[in-house]
Amino acid sequence: MTTSPLEDRLTAELADIETAGLTRRRRVLESPCGRIATVDGKNLLNFAANDYLGLAGNPGIARALADGAMQWGAGSGASHLVSGHLAPHEALEKEIAAFSGFPRALTFSTGYLANLAVTPTLAGRGDAVFADKLNHASLIDAMQQAKANGADVQRYAHNDVAALEKLLAASTAAHKVIVTDAVFSMDGDLAPLPLIFALAERYDAWLVIDDAHGFGVLGAHGQGSLAHFNLPASPRILLMGTLGKAAGVGGAFVAGSETAIEYLLQKGRSYIFTTAQPPAIACALSKSLQLIKNGDALRANLMTRIGQLRDGLAGLPLTLLPSLTAIQPLIVGDNDAAVALAKALWERGLWVPAIRPPTVPKGTARLRISVSAAHTEADIDQLVTALKELA
Ligand SMILES: Cc1ncc(COP(=O)(O)O)c(C=O)c1O
Repeated sequence: MTTSPLEDRLTAELADIETAGLTRRRRVLESPCGRIATVDGKNLLNFAANDYLGLAGNPGIARALADGAMQWGAGSGASHLVSGHLAPHEALEKEIAAFSGFPRALTFSTGYLANLAVTPTLAGRGDAVFADKLNHASLIDAMQQAKANGADVQRYAHNDVAALEKLLAASTAAHKVIVTDAVFSMDGDLAPLPLIFALAERYDAWLVIDDAHGFGVLGAHGQGSLAHFNLPASPRILLMGTLGKAAGVGGAFVAGSETAIEYLLQKGRSYIFTTAQPPAIACALSKSLQLIKNGDALRANLMTRIGQLRDGLAGLPLTLLPSLTAIQPLIVGDNDAAVALAKALWERGLWVPAIRPPTVPKGTARLRISVSAAHTEADIDQLVTALKELA
């Protein structure tokens, strides 16, 4: 088969990725997302999903989705601002606003799009963005977009509040925007939000918080990281939460003041120029929100399992990062060693993904163990026993 010079370049790059041991492959699940995943006919205990409350397979949510589709049809037909904003979307926005404590919320099809809507809309020429170095890729892309719009962008060392303050103090930008994950997706640790919020107040900055991994899990009723830290729904905060992780469905929201949300609605390009989510998704999310609010027993089980895992892995020759959350990273270091350990677990019926650069810094390849309220005591025991033997 002949290939074009255009394709030759791609082929060469793909070969380099393969040589570096960084080729990514997808696994095809033959079962719904849940505690057990079936792949190639083999049942595996699933420590690879962000389904922290075990809601992805919840029959009540699936029923709300099916009923929603019967009532509202399959698609929304247009973007929200044209004709795609249906009653279930409107109801969900109001429910999310009430739950998060902010005056208003907007929903998006994905967290990636939600993040792309916020930072570049708030910050352009003459403004400055201050971002944690370990922020999620979607926040980094949003920051790059702000840069392309003329904003000055500065990154501070992970959770280094003193470094952030220095940058804020030195900045002469018209508007300052601080951007951080609340729970860091590959480390599981929390941003020091009370200190960062105090800096936002002192330097009159916006504070954009990505609570993808805190929403549903942390704080009273699973309200998220702000509730965990007892922080107010301040008008200077824009809170992004994803709805495909603990909420078990898909999509995302941004909550904030009336004015800030109206501004995003008018100007957020990734809100305006995309088809609204199917309305049945909003129906499913309304149900999921109820289950999250009433989900104290699920969260208690999740916390028990996290504690069991951490106690069980204490004394292992690998470093388990300090994390209170459902994301428990076990640092292996070398890329090939991380992949080999994940493979050995897989052979024992345990699915724990190996995460390698560029997703994490070089030399810190790791197993990212995702704990779920759906896991049983025996599930965690099985993982701990296997890791003790293999590590
Ligand atoms: C911290 C963080 N923010 C944003 C996203 C993007 O959300 P979504 O998957 O809904 O696009 C993710 C994960 O996917 C994430 O981990």
